[in-house]
Amino acid sequence: MIPIRVFALATLAICSAAASVRYVPESKTFFLETAHTSYVFGVNENGALQNIYWGGKVTRTADFSPAHTVDNHASFESREGQSPEEYPGWGGMQYAEPCLKVTFGDGVRDLALRYVSHELGPETVTVRLKDIGYNFLVDVVYQVFPANDIIRRQVRIANQTGQPATLESAQSAVWYLPPGEGYRLSYLTGRWAGETQLTREPIHTGRKVLESRRGTTSHEANPWFAIDAGGAADEEHGRVWFGALGWSGAWKLVVEQTPHGRVSVTGGYNDFDFAYQLQPGESLDTPPFYAGYSDGGFGESSRILHRFLRERILPDRASPHPRPVLYNSWEATAFDVNEAGQTALAKKAAKLGVELFVMDDGWFGQRNDDHRGLGDWYVNPQKFPNGLGGLIDAVNKLGMKFGLWVEPEMVNPDSDLYRKHPDWAMNFPGRPRTEGRNQLILNMARDDVKEHIFGVLDRLLTQNRIAFLKWDMNRNFSEPGWPEVAPAAQKQIWVKYVNNVYAIIDRLREKHPGVEIESCSGGGGRVDLGMLRRVDEVWTSDNTEAFDRLRIQDGFSAVYAPKVMMAWVTDVPNMNGRSTPLKFRFLVAMMGSLGIGANLNHWSDDDLSFASQMIAHYKAIRETVQQGRLYRLASPREGTFTANEYLSEDGRQAVLFAFLQAQQLLRPAPVVCLRGLDPEAVYRIRTIDDKLVDSRDNTSGAALMNRGIGLRLGGDFDGTMLVFERVDR
Ligand code: GLA
Repeated sequence: MIPIRVFALATLAICSAAASVRYVPESKTFFLETAHTSYVFGVNENGALQNIYWGGKVTRTADFSPAHTVDNHASFESREGQSPEEYPGWGGMQYAEPCLKVTFGDGVRDLALRYVSHELGPETVTVRLKDIGYNFLVDVVYQVFPANDIIRRQVRIANQTGQPATLESAQSAVWYLPPGEGYRLSYLTGRWAGETQLTREPIHTGRKVLESRRGTTSHEANPWFAIDAGGAADEEHGRVWFGALGWSGAWKLVVEQTPHGRVSVTGGYNDFDFAYQLQPGESLDTPPFYAGYSDGGFGESSRILHRFLRERILPDRASPHPRPVLYNSWEATAFDVNEAGQTALAKKAAKLGVELFVMDDGWFGQRNDDHRGLGDWYVNPQKFPNGLGGLIDAVNKLGMKFGLWVEPEMVNPDSDLYRKHPDWAMNFPGRPRTEGRNQLILNMARDDVKEHIFGVLDRLLTQNRIAFLKWDMNRNFSEPGWPEVAPAAQKQIWVKYVNNVYAIIDRLREKHPGVEIESCSGGGGRVDLGMLRRVDEVWTSDNTEAFDRLRIQDGFSAVYAPKVMMAWVTDVPNMNGRSTPLKFRFLVAMMGSLGIGANLNHWSDDDLSFASQMIAHYKAIRETVQQGRLYRLASPREGTFTANEYLSEDGRQAVLFAFLQAQQLLRPAPVVCLRGLDPEAVYRIRTIDDKLVDSRDNTSGAALMNRGIGLRLGGDFDGTMLVFERVDR
């Protein structure tokens, strides 16, 4: 939450040149700096806050003119409407996407925000804006992460007018690209079992809307954008501006090029079905919107985001630790879980080197299939006559931690909870309650529902030695009614639902600090920087088929670090009928946070012994995969060959994964040139098979990066992993 403070009128203090945030009073200009970027804005002659520059670092104050409205005569436009306001309200001749649209208590729908004051911190600046007439305030908050090359923006909107005011659009920020032409947009869309598919397309005049109207982040699109100059960037080169929204509810990004050629991205709460009424004295915070710039192409942009996620967002950001290798029972046993069966699987998993054993759906209430039981979070006495204690003890004795699946936000109509509290489900009175996967959504915006769910989970964690929760959400909103509150307040459900889910997780983590959480929503339906602030990893996709996973994981890696990308090795044929070799499945899953999701009872001794070896290989390189720098050397979107390199932060270890999905015409796999090594250093190469063509032990960084290495990959779904250890001279 942004602290509301008493705002002193603009101080005259100019911070030292080294500060990341500076204000120059003579020109009324704010300078935000990170290690490699600058962001400049100022107060123009009308008192409006206006963008001046965003891009590569420019430190010389004198290189920037003060903010001034655009001097471009165009009939049917105003100068103000053409000027890049930092936080434009909808009012006057404003035809571009506004950040804020308000209806005041007296029916007026015009907003003109002007600078009042600001407050500087070492890495923050909060600028207070106020409407020209009403006592209606917006605090625009900027936070700079200098070492991470990221700027975060967010606002607090406060109604001090003495009458209710209704917000019809409340965005977090608009980011302006420098004037220019030929910009290209990259974005991620998908669907269930086909998340995070990357598209790149030129930006033309008009608006491109990326959004979720589903109440959650969604599989449909992910709240991230990247825009490159001239459509010329690639993995290694080119100027790229990028951003990601931290919100797990309905969101919207509008990528816009105005008729006069100005390009921007506006993002925040989705304004579809949105009306947030603020009573006098009330305020609303918008979600954080993070953004950055790099001249190192898409590869460097992703690495900046990965590092930022690890160092500034994730719950373990203060002291990062590796993700454990986990086993999950879902694809093996589905709802058919019991103490004997799970213990048998746990014994096999432990032998492989698994560190965390997770029991998925089916352990509670009358949950024998997906038609019943959700909401009844008591242990099923037929399946677990001794409670969960027996299984947890067995798992712990085997040297593993125990994790459990929950889906707290949902209820099946066939459940004790629903029979007792039918009103707790989201609904419009007298209207159908549409079921998805035979379930309804609890109205988490209600505080009584929130308290109930917190109590249930708190008890579960207090009574059992649970180290990990897989927190699922298996449908999206429908009929988002909230009949218990006044009609004018009902649409707040879109915001309050999410904030209450956040509040439950935050409270649970505070009370049970040892417990880690995975966010799941039928796969990757709730992956965003808002959720990742409070969970340790995410379930990437219900599609665990390794060939499909290559593309899902490639798109995922545009934004999110491999560390949080949960990837299981599962059985074949997979849901799409495809069978790939066990080695291929392992190698694909080892590019993220490794898990096993197969029915180990069906594995041969050879499979089990191969799996133990692969898990041991993984443990030797996981620090580099999870915490290192990812170089996407060959994309599965572009051909039949995929290669990813992970380089440890200290540069001492590099790991190469290479895959030939389908060999054609006996073409050999391409030579792979590594990146980011020290050309002068010598690296010892460790192989896990005989795929390396030149079996020399030691090779210089220069040779690995320039001459490259040949790989003996052939046939279908072949793959290998190589490890390069720097040899001290
Ligand atoms: C969702 C999850 C799966 C599994 C099932 C259980 O589909 O994505 O991994 O947990 O629910 O019902």
